[in-house]
Amino acid sequence: MSPETRHLIELTDAALAADYTRVRRAANAIARELAEGGDLEAAHELRSLLRKKGVPLRASGYVEQLPVDTKSRLPLVEEQGWPSTPILLNRTAGATLQDFISDVHHVEELSRQGLSSRLCLLLSGPPGTGKSLLAGHVASALKRPLYVVRLDSMISSLLGDTAKNVRAIFDFAPAKGAVLFLDEMDAVAKLRDDRHELGELKRVVNTVLQGLDALDDRTVVIGATNHPQLLDRAIWRRFPYKISLGFPDRDVRTEMWRHFLFSDQQHEAAQHLAEISDGLSGADIETIAHTARRHSVLTKREIDLAGVAEAVVNSESGVPMLPPREMLSPDARRDLALRLSAKGLNAPKIAELLGVTRQWALKLLKNEERGDG
Ligand SMILES: Nc1ncnc2c1ncn2[C@@H]1O[C@H](COP(=O)(O)OP(=O)(O)OP(=O)(O)O)[C@@H](O)[C@H]1O
Ligand SMILES: [Mg+2]
Repeated sequence: MSPETRHLIELTDAALAADYTRVRRAANAIARELAEGGDLEAAHELRSLLRKKGVPLRASGYVEQLPVDTKSRLPLVEEQGWPSTPILLNRTAGATLQDFISDVHHVEELSRQGLSSRLCLLLSGPPGTGKSLLAGHVASALKRPLYVVRLDSMISSLLGDTAKNVRAIFDFAPAKGAVLFLDEMDAVAKLRDDRHELGELKRVVNTVLQGLDALDDRTVVIGATNHPQLLDRAIWRRFPYKISLGFPDRDVRTEMWRHFLFSDQQHEAAQHLAEISDGLSGADIETIAHTARRHSVLTKREIDLAGVAEAVVNSESGVPMLPPREMLSPDARRDLALRLSAKGLNAPKIAELLGVTRQWALKLLKNEERGDG
């Protein structure tokens, strides 16, 4: 086995064990070899990477430290890295987020004045509106590790053990100085109609409540739910900070199109697309935009805005239609122009999206008005 191969295996093994010390040692050895072999640029790049701080994963024995389900031995929480994409929020949500982060930063000062409150933030909103992403951004802003618990999978496994599991999680997170993210908070409530006994469910809810109550005032907990109305009132009250992530408003949609479709470049079409994509979630917009960009890369053509518009008018929230791979036929183009007009776009905007002249769009709309289109 060559020394390079040996180091590569060592590096992989250390990375999977989340052992930063070994990762650094192996990477340093590789950098030394690269330098000796004359590849100074690569050696330099690797060494500058090594100067970066890693994600605050605990060093060795990381997996064993996670609380596990007593029966299955599966971990109850999962560490998630910090997001690398931005979160785009409307003004109210953005302001609450900033308030929350600022309160966490100043918790000592606030608590000296008797003004600290439980650092629990509840996120509600339909699927794909950025709840999980937002939880990641909170952890990243606070530079704390993020531990995610999926209450639904935990509860459905075996109700009898759930209370014990919940307790293990609430003991674990504060000890780690972590942000604890309880996803699918409505899972408990949803089970209520199920075959489970009410007594057992009460016990689960109570354990969650006790867990929340026992937290010190520095532990950050984020809960997320698609169905806030299903949430137990007592749990609801334990979260003083609440952000409702509805579907993005027009300004946010413009930012989303600009970010996901035009890679943050200014483009007027972002506004036109925002105008016709009311009711779509951030995840829907991302899916449509990224598909169009993939097509553009593979066909080596500009992004086909008509295809994007076609996908948008055919999409419903949660079920995005994908832009067609082929360019639209002239008939489909005419049809689309009329549908865009019905959505309130004027001729110049339609022309921009379809890549046709304003005259063409104006004439088409006029003919349609006269009834002979
Ligand atoms: N407000 C937003 N800003 C930026 N990106 C967003 C936003 N909303 C959704 N996205 C994109 O959609 C993806 C999915 O969003 P996310 O998983 O956070 O939604 P969610 O609300 O947690 O959905 P679910 O209820 O299904 O868990 C994100 O990773 C991001 O790429
Ligand atoms: Mg989510």
